[in-house]
Amino acid sequence: MQRIHTANELRSTLNTKSNIAFIPTMGNLHDGHIALVSLAKQHGECVVASIFVNPLQFGPNEDLANYPRTLEADCKRLADAGADIVFIPSVKEMYPDFDGEHLNQTMTITPPSIAAELCGASRPGHFAGVATVVMKLFNLVMPQVAIFGKKDFQQVFVIKELVRQFNLPIQIIAGDTVREPSGLAMSSRNGYLTPTQKSEAAQLHQCLANIVHAVKQGNTNFTVLENSASQTLAQQGWLVDYVSVRATDTLKPATNQDKELVVLGAAKLGSTRLIDNIDFCAK
Ligand code: PAF
Repeated sequence: MQRIHTANELRSTLNTKSNIAFIPTMGNLHDGHIALVSLAKQHGECVVASIFVNPLQFGPNEDLANYPRTLEADCKRLADAGADIVFIPSVKEMYPDFDGEHLNQTMTITPPSIAAELCGASRPGHFAGVATVVMKLFNLVMPQVAIFGKKDFQQVFVIKELVRQFNLPIQIIAGDTVREPSGLAMSSRNGYLTPTQKSEAAQLHQCLANIVHAVKQGNTNFTVLENSASQTLAQQGWLVDYVSVRATDTLKPATNQDKELVVLGAAKLGSTRLIDNIDFCAK
């Protein structure tokens, strides 16, 4: 697997490649990412991954400085999984106006209004940061297919909108969430959990699964279900950000008419913010 650090080298290397499948990541790779590499191999002849901890998508009080950086282990995992190229740019390479501290002059993409809801409500600017870096990475890699994990359901939604609204000739594929045997969704942030918290962390998935079960049984009182799940989580010691049932095609709050649904949740266990979701058909 070739490691590339600059946009110029990436361009000249990819010039001769066709049918590129791309997996953007922030590193600290887990089995969920590796499953995306396998998916990429089914959809492209040249599999390119990127590792870039994007400062633009972190809020001032978030974990940018402490975000786990595990480059050597990540490269080994990508190579073992069959990736052909990994792009590992510096902040300056991605954001030419970065002065070592600030990204003030950086042009950004304004995501659709849904980006201000759910995770966007407590992480203002997050999806603008994601959309901007993904657009830049797409411009550099120029893939035919790009693969993202469904655990970040709202992120996938925003990226599909990016592709649709900017007419990008890229197919977006969402890979299923990979889970621990407990049901806990794999996430780089699970590494912040203590062993006790890790054993409790599947409660988030359990609460969402209970809602899916109730809706499938015909209970469409979404607000009651959401409030009761939030209450259960709070009683179990979580600081709940949101639990919300939405229509998958719009991400708007679900109505009785919607059949394709997704229940999404975000909550903090100690200081670790976890997210999860389950998409399902109501009947
Ligand atoms: O999901 C992630 O790891 C990041 O948000 C992404 C898509 C790589 C953009 O920085």
